[in-house]
Formats: sequence, C-alpha cells, structure tokens
Amino acid sequence: MAKRIKVAILFGGRSVEHQISINSAKNIFQYIDRDRFEPVLVGISKDGVWHLKDEVDDHFDPSDELVLSLNPTECVLKSAKKEVRPDAVFPVLHGTDGEDGSIQGLLQAMDLPFVGTGVLGSSVSMNKLTSKRLLQASGIPVSKFLAYEFHQKDELDFEFIKKELGLPFMAKAANLGSSVGVAKVKSIAGFNEAVEDCFRFDRTVLFEVYIEGRELECSVMGNTPPRASEPAEIVISKNYEFYTYEAKYLDPNAVELHVPAKLSKDIAEKIRELSIQAYETLHCEDFARVDLFLTPENEILINEINTIPGFTNSSMFPMMWQEKGISFPDLITMLIEMALDKYEVSKRILKRYSHNARG
Ligand SMILES: Nc1ncnc2c1ncn2[C@@H]1O[C@H](COP(=O)(O)OP(=O)(O)O)[C@@H](O)[C@H]1O
Ligand SMILES: [Mg+2]
Repeated sequence: MAKRIKVAILFGGRSVEHQISINSAKNIFQYIDRDRFEPVLVGISKDGVWHLKDEVDDHFDPSDELVLSLNPTECVLKSAKKEVRPDAVFPVLHGTDGEDGSIQGLLQAMDLPFVGTGVLGSSVSMNKLTSKRLLQASGIPVSKFLAYEFHQKDELDFEFIKKELGLPFMAKAANLGSSVGVAKVKSIAGFNEAVEDCFRFDRTVLFEVYIEGRELECSVMGNTPPRASEPAEIVISKNYEFYTYEAKYLDPNAVELHVPAKLSKDIAEKIRELSIQAYETLHCEDFARVDLFLTPENEILINEINTIPGFTNSSMFPMMWQEKGISFPDLITMLIEMALDKYEVSKRILKRYSHNARG
C-alpha cells in the first residue's frame, strides 16, 4: 500500500463558532478515506491553545499541548506525547482566526499545503463590508447597505438609516458568522440594542435593506475553472424572523432544506453563474458556499460567501454535492487533492530574486 498522506484536521478555535467547527470536524474525521489519508487531529481551545488530540471533542488536556515549529523544512507539531509532520492541513475552522486568513497565513509561512481559500480570499470573504464592496464593484448585485466604524458610534442616526433603507432593516457585525451579531431592526429600541450587540463583537457594523425573499445557497468547488452545484433552499419556519443561530443549530424543526431548490432552469443557471463570479471576485479557492436571496421579482442578491462552510450533519455544502453524486468521503478526497495540486503549482513561483539568474 502506498504511504498514507498525513492530513492535519484543525478544529475548534477562538471563535463564536467553536462548537460548530467541532461538529464539522467530527464528520471529516469519520468520513476521510483511511486507505489514502492518515488523519492527525489538532484541536484549538477557546483560548487559542493548540493541542494534538486523539478525539474530536471539546476536552483540551494540558498534556496534549502543542508546540509548533515554524521552520518550513521541518513543520512539526510536537506535544509531550508525540510528534507529527503533516503533509497537508484541512482547516475545519469557522469564523474568526480560522476562516479569516490568519491561520491560512500561518500555514503558508510554514510551507504546508492546506485545503481552501488563501489569505487574501479568506480575509475579504470574512468581512461582510469589504466583500460587499468588492462584489458591488464587479457588478454583482448585493442589497443596499450602510456601514459605520466604532469611532462613528455617536453619528449613528436611526431616522437617517430608516430613510435610506426602509423599515425593517438588518444590522450585522461585519466579521462574524452563524448569525451571531445579526438582528432585524424594527424600532429605535431594537436599533440601539442591535448596535450595542454588534459593537460588543466587532469594530464595524453594517445595516442592510431587509430582503423579503427566498433564502438560497449554492456551493462552488474547484479552481481552474470552478464549478457550481444546483442551488438549494432554506425554508425558515414562521417561528423565526430570519435564519438565527437558534434556527441554524439548536432547533431541528426550524428549517426545511430543499436540495435542490425548486427553481426554473433559467434562474438556477443564473444563480450558478453569479455564484461562480462571486467566488472568483473574492479570490476563493477549492471550495465555498455562496448564500443569496431571490426576490419575488426574481432578482438575485448575493448575501455572503463562506470560505469554510459547515460539514455538520445539517450542513448544506456536503448535501448539495451529494445531490450531484459526490459522496462525503469523495468530497473530502477531492478537497485534499486540490490542496496538494495547488501547492505543487505554487512551488513554480520563485520566492527569491537574483539579478543574474534566469529561472
Ligand atoms: N439583507 C437581509 N435581508 C433579509 N434577511 C437577511 C439579510 N441579511 C441577513 N439576513 C438573515 O440573517 C441571516 C444571517 O445573516 P448573514 O449575513 O448570512 O450572516 P452569518 O454570516 O452570520 O450567516 C441570513 O441567513 C438571513 O436569514
Ligand atoms: Mg449566513
């Protein structure tokens, strides 16, 4: 048997989505093809301490604590019990410190191949303001928005925002996920509460026109060229005003998932095209889930792009590919292969410059 490729699965992390990451990583660990890959578990505690672990769980024992060697010719993960040099890394981290380019920068500096979007695409996609500006500049439709930094807090004027965006409108912290720091604002009291909440989590708050429409998602995968799945739909129960944290993760009856969504061929095709355009505009690599709205007038508005979508049992990304005939284990294999291919290609790019040298 050929030597198995050691793949470090990174999970947990210093993020409000710590537990979601653990749920996603459990599935990657369960379904990774053991004939080809040897999974190595690297858990990051809520305090940001790295551990070499044997199980995907939220128990972080000090004896498993990890020391990272940043020497790119070594790249070893050492704990008191073991020492591993991974051949590739699969960051299964959601949100801050994991999906925003910071871990990707660390992995790049360590010269390790890793699954998913690199530093640039991760950081711009994570930031709801920067990503919307980039999408808008590329002619990709997004909902109308206003943004304020913390130092502009005193300038916040409910009446002005109401006039610009109508009521209700959405308030969001710019850099979070899983609907943490997201609110539907209907009154000045709700506005003040939402602003306080957003600024507890972030420096930037975003207000958006509330879109009364269907909530759809489209998965994109690959690099040259990327391809899109059929769009899927999330139908949220009337008990929720939008797709809240509770509806996403705590209430199994909150949503109905339609994979694929019932759409005309033309609209589905348009969504797939726009999703690929958005993926390319934001420099996404290997895989991402594009979230969007479809209005009753059939207008498509891109809401956001998740560069490390969930892999939990209720996650749409793996479901959408399953619908296309790609099993969970094959999906993981494809993603790791993309990481390894991308790394090979990146080796062509010279890292040193010598005036006289050619090549
Ligand atoms: N402009 C909007 N109009 C209507 N609903 C929205 C809008 N923006 C967000 N939502 C609702 O809030 C949810 C979470 O917002 P989103 O921007 O996707 O943040 P997160 O990164 O936390 O998932 C969405 O899934 C949707 O249900
Ligand atoms: Mg979302």
